[in-house]
Amino acid sequence: MKKTIAVLPGDGIGPEVTDAAVKVLQSIAMRYGHTFHLKHAAIGGTAVDQFDNPLPQQTIDVCDASDAILLGAVGGTKWDSNPAHLRPEKGLLNIRKHFDLFANIRPVKAVPALLDSSPLKEEVAKEVDMVIVRELTSGLYFGEPKRRSEKSAVDTLVYTREEIERIVNQAFEIARTRRGKVTSVDKANVLETSKLWREVVEERRKAYPDIEVEHMLVDSAAMKLITDPRAFDVVVTENMFGDILSDEASVITGSLGMLPSASIRSDGFGLYEPVHGSAPDIAGQNKANPSAAILSAAMMLKHSFGLHTEAAAIEKAVMGVLEDGYCTGDLAGEGKRVVSTDRFVTKVVEELERE
Ligand code: NAI
Ligand code: MG
Repeated sequence: MKKTIAVLPGDGIGPEVTDAAVKVLQSIAMRYGHTFHLKHAAIGGTAVDQFDNPLPQQTIDVCDASDAILLGAVGGTKWDSNPAHLRPEKGLLNIRKHFDLFANIRPVKAVPALLDSSPLKEEVAKEVDMVIVRELTSGLYFGEPKRRSEKSAVDTLVYTREEIERIVNQAFEIARTRRGKVTSVDKANVLETSKLWREVVEERRKAYPDIEVEHMLVDSAAMKLITDPRAFDVVVTENMFGDILSDEASVITGSLGMLPSASIRSDGFGLYEPVHGSAPDIAGQNKANPSAAILSAAMMLKHSFGLHTEAAAIEKAVMGVLEDGYCTGDLAGEGKRVVSTDRFVTKVVEELERE
């Protein structure tokens, strides 16, 4: 298979973790006979410094000419006092909007070698295996009008039937590849948008008779994520609820450095990035945990290219290295051997070559 991948390293540890993911992709290409053309381009603070624009046109052009995007992270104190249009995060918001990447997918799965770093009881944490599907390009963060006066402020929550249908379909499709259960999270007891959301889920489920569906109010879902996260398979929800619940879910498996994500649209095109940020406190020190970026590359192979065997091989290699006791500083603990980012990647590549 021949594919072109846009690589947008970004800021802080972004370049270190994307380099790591690229090494793993190159190893996969060699081993399975694929050709991945990797095209680097600037985003975030680095792009502001070079081009006065957090998402320059040449970066959009590179992404347009690619089959998928791999992104590191953006942001850092250097740009914190910039005006809104010159802030690194603007690059990320703009790229999602520009490519209409409406479905944010975050798998949250227990890592057997790391159960001791979960805040939950080991017997609860060890069975966590869910995917949160969050609507990413509409809802309260984008609704108009949005305005401020001295005495009041307005945000607007709008969803169209079509926007709900496409994200709900995406969740049903993902559930089909998993345990076949969808939990739709809303606030239908008070919000009109949530009532429409629920109606659409009820309509769409008719096309997926094999999938079990449950509705849950967001407050109760927030509790259940802590008390019984094993009950979830695929969770589908609107933008703001998904933002909050996915961050809540991200801590239950123990490390931010382990969690990948995808932002995709229906034709398979997508942007893949670790959940964590640019970690300025450890940037440039060869200390960052590259697992989330590497697992994001695995998600790309699976969701955008349909390369399920290759994706599974990457996941297995990362878990294998952790099981052998190797880890980066963020996962240090008893019986663990802390290694640099480079060394960790070398171990993952060796593990891949051994399979
Ligand atoms: P962060 O995720 O960058 O870091 C939080 C803590 O986790 C830090 O102590 C960091 O060292 C550690 N950490 C994160 N990823 C790690 C990894 N791979 N390996 C080892 N340790 C890791 O979040 P924070 O500090 O709130 O934000 C830092 C910058 O990143 C800010 O400018 C923020 O806006 C930006 N950010 C960017 C995101 C993105 O590009 N998608 C997402 C979240 C934050
Ligand atoms: Mg968030």
